[in-house]
Amino acid sequence: MKFEGASILSVSQFERADIDTIFHVANHMEPYAQRQKRTRVLEGAILGNMFFEASTRTRISFGSAFNLLGGDVRETVGFESSALAKGESLHDTARVLSGFSDIICMRHPEPDSVADFAKSSRVPVINGGDGSNEHPSQALLDLYTIEKELKGLGRKIDGLRIAMIGDLRHGRTVHSLSKLLMLFNNISVQLVSPKDLAMPKNIVEDMRSKGLSVIESEKIESSISHVDIVYSTRIQEERFTSKDEADLYRGKFRLNQAIYTAHCEPNTVIMHPLPRDSREEANELDIDLDGNPSLAIFRQTDNGLLVRMALFAMTLDVVHLVEKNSSDVPWHNLR
Ligand code: CP
Repeated sequence: MKFEGASILSVSQFERADIDTIFHVANHMEPYAQRQKRTRVLEGAILGNMFFEASTRTRISFGSAFNLLGGDVRETVGFESSALAKGESLHDTARVLSGFSDIICMRHPEPDSVADFAKSSRVPVINGGDGSNEHPSQALLDLYTIEKELKGLGRKIDGLRIAMIGDLRHGRTVHSLSKLLMLFNNISVQLVSPKDLAMPKNIVEDMRSKGLSVIESEKIESSISHVDIVYSTRIQEERFTSKDEADLYRGKFRLNQAIYTAHCEPNTVIMHPLPRDSREEANELDIDLDGNPSLAIFRQTDNGLLVRMALFAMTLDVVHLVEKNSSDVPWHNLR
């Protein structure tokens, strides 16, 4: 695809060569993310960071990525503090905000809302999560992490065996990741969820039609025993009508060190898009896994910065200028 000036709304936009390009650019962002060097390549540019639904890492990661490229960030946080709460349409909001910004990142609770917003925006829009539909930048950082973790084990994404666990019905990260995996060869997927929270049928059918081996199950132990990656997800309480309804499913698929040792192959990588629900009744990834070197959840968040820097540099067409606008950092770097 042509990245310059493009909005990033769905992973369905990408071909496999695009993924290689994004990962290549992301690798080059490492010295800047690590503060070994700094670049002012986006000096004067403004990111409109519009988050109409709760977020910690996606919002801050997009903002930090833009700052690390030298740009400034303006934010709206929460529906109630925006004019959407006064009845303003997404069309009007997009017309206004795209006059203030060079690029916009947006999260919104309604599926396809970010794509609607993008139609009225005069600048590129990156989907930071539209309801239970998609979360493209998360899937890219997840796949980037998978590639890095497998490389350390002498493997590639082709041939990957992965278990996705939890609320696969509402989890936008697993929807986007599943679609990205369709670009690769010889992929085996174990989908582990309660029947009511199963992966949408159209995604399962698409995966099978693209040649992926897909097994659906309600049992975590047997599903994680022959995979390279265990990708756990949270029960997406915000998509249920009540907390009580979400409680019916919480805590059904717990992973802790004892279960990992008993059922997983050595070096099985543990991933989660975060936030993990660490409340006792959920505890989907126990903190006793925190000392396990195969727990990649915080490497995922670090990688997110690289991938998001790459997306900004590519959509704003400055990849070739990043190095030219770089200098050493003057402060003491503790990393
Ligand atoms: N993974 C993710 O989207 O996290 P946040 O909800 O904190 O942005």
